[in-house]
Amino acid sequence: MFLRNFWYAAALRDEVGRQPLARTILGEPVLFYRKLDGSVAALEDRCSHRRVSLSKGRLVEDKVQCGYHGIMFDANGVCVSIPGQDTIPPQGHIKAFPVVERDGFVWIWPGDRAGAERGKLPDYSLCASPNYAGRTDRMRIDADYLLSIDNIMDLSHIAYVHQAYANDVAAAIRPTVKTDGATVTATRAMKDIENPPLYRRVIGTGHVDRVQELRFTPAGHLQLYVTIRGAGVDAPTLNVFYFSQLTPETARSHHTFFGVYRDFDIDNAEMTKLMGDQTVITVSEDKAVIEDQQRNWDQDGADRRMIDIAVDRGPLEARRLIRRLYEGERQDTAVAAAE
Ligand code: FES
Ligand SMILES: [Fe+2]
Repeated sequence: MFLRNFWYAAALRDEVGRQPLARTILGEPVLFYRKLDGSVAALEDRCSHRRVSLSKGRLVEDKVQCGYHGIMFDANGVCVSIPGQDTIPPQGHIKAFPVVERDGFVWIWPGDRAGAERGKLPDYSLCASPNYAGRTDRMRIDADYLLSIDNIMDLSHIAYVHQAYANDVAAAIRPTVKTDGATVTATRAMKDIENPPLYRRVIGTGHVDRVQELRFTPAGHLQLYVTIRGAGVDAPTLNVFYFSQLTPETARSHHTFFGVYRDFDIDNAEMTKLMGDQTVITVSEDKAVIEDQQRNWDQDGADRRMIDIAVDRGPLEARRLIRRLYEGERQDTAVAAAE
C-alpha cells in the first residue's frame, strides 16, 4: 500500500555524487547523480533500448550514457543521442523524477509530478539547525514499511526489545493518542520522575518532568520530540529529537533514515557518537523483530487471525490514516483515467 503523492527521503546528501547511485523507491528503479552545478538528478534506472541499468553506465557532464550501446540521456530523461542514427524516437525518452535537496536529505516525489511542490516537503530543519547536534544514519529493512510504523507508534515494546532502555518508566505509561487531520500524535507526560542517565551529565541527578510527543505524518515520518525539564524555576529544559523516515523499497522492504539530535552539549562529539551509535543499535534490534514478523506473515498467510491489544491504539490509528489516503489516491487515479 504505497502512497505516491508525497516526498520521500531517497538518500543522505553525501550518498549522491558523481558516481551513479541506484536505489529502488516504491518499486521503481531510480538512478541518482549530482550534476556539475551541484544539484541532483533522479532518472528511471532503465535504458529505453534494452532495459540495461543506466546506473551501470557513466556520466558525461550532466548526461548519463548507457554502458551497453552508448545511448545518452540528459538530466530530464530526454534521449539526446543514439549511436549510429540521427533520429530519436519519442519512446526513447525515460522518466525523470522531481527531486529536491534539503536538511541533509535528497527527497524524491514518486507520484504525479504536478503535485510536487516544495511547500509539501516535510520539516527536518532541526537536523540542519546550528542549535542542534546529532547524526543521521540509514538502514534497509526486509519488511513492509507498515511494520516499522506499527513498531514505532507503540513504544511499549521498548521494555522488551531494547535492553538499554528496558527500565525506562516511559515505556510503561499509556500514551494519549489523537488524530488531527493528517497527523497521529501519541503523547506521554511524566511529572517528577528520576532523571534518565543520558541527561544526568547535563542536568544533574534528581527529579525532572519529561514529555514525549510522538508524531506520525504520512507517508512515513515518525518524529519523537522529548522535553526534559529540571525541577525549580531556573532549571534548564533539554530537547531531543528522534526520527525515522521510512521510504518503501518494495512491498516487502524499506529504507529507514533515522537519527537523534539534541540542543544541549552540542560541541561534544563524543556525546554525538554515543547517542548516534545507541540509536543504530536500537534500530537494528527493531529490524530483527520486524523481519522475523514479515517472514512469519509470508509463511503463515495474511489471513491468519491476530488479536489487537491496548497498546495497538497508535499503530491502528496510523494505519487507518494511511488507508484513507491510499483510497483517496486510488480514486484520484481512477477519475484521471476516466477523463
Ligand atoms: S541497452 Fe542501453 S543502449 Fe542498448
Ligand atoms: Fe524500537
